[in-house]
Amino acid sequence: MGTTKLHILPFRYLMSLEKLIRDTAGSQLVKKWRSIKKEEIGSIEDSMLPEILTIQAEAFKDGKPEILVKYVKRFRNIFYVIKSKDKIVGYCIYYLKPVISLKGFEKKSVICSVAIDKNFRGRGFAERLLRSSIEEMKVNGISSILLYVNINNLPAIQLYEKMGFQETRSIKNICGRKETCYEMELKLV
Ligand SMILES: CC(C)(COP(=O)(O)OP(=O)(O)OC[C@H]1O[C@@H](n2cnc3c(N)ncnc32)[C@H](O)[C@@H]1OP(=O)(O)O)[C@@H](O)C(=O)NCCC(=O)NCCS
Repeated sequence: MGTTKLHILPFRYLMSLEKLIRDTAGSQLVKKWRSIKKEEIGSIEDSMLPEILTIQAEAFKDGKPEILVKYVKRFRNIFYVIKSKDKIVGYCIYYLKPVISLKGFEKKSVICSVAIDKNFRGRGFAERLLRSSIEEMKVNGISSILLYVNINNLPAIQLYEKMGFQETRSIKNICGRKETCYEMELKLV
């Protein structure tokens, strides 16, 4: 293949390859995960998926169910659900991102989706879900947590700020075409 062709290798294929490598490495790391048991919070089970998909569909107009299905398979231990009595009222999904930098090998995590059933919002469910999962991230040696949030999503931004996340930069077109997101980070070490 000539150098010209290499230059025009579609960017998105390279991105997909990067994602595949990251997810494969991350899903290996998550196999050794140490879970902290909490009464109302636990990891997803397959039977819970229909309720989770309903919460996702209601919370995000362009939510992609296939992404949730993928994360159930690859990152089950860090796909958290929260219940009120026996009803599932929300979820928070992470993936792991191994990073090699000048500091050496680091394990970061990324929150890829959080949502609470609209009938249960404003009652502290998201806050408890995040606090508990952040605690587990610390126990498992995660150095920092990243997330991406639309700049217009004030409830979510306020939630993350309350948890200690700080804006690191803004990025266009990663959370929808012509949309801008903040990248936010919570350093744990
Ligand atoms: C964002 C979301 C997860 C919050 O869930 P929740 O259970 O209602 O949040 P909590 O009750 O735990 O609130 C915790 C904190 O979040 C912030 N917050 C929550 N709802 C808020 C609102 N409507 N307006 C402003 N701040 C809000 C506040 O700081 C609140 O703390 P306070 O009660 O001391 O003021 C929920 O609104 C949701 O599911 N939204 C749709 C999906 C979404 O946007 N997800 C985030 C994608 S990045």
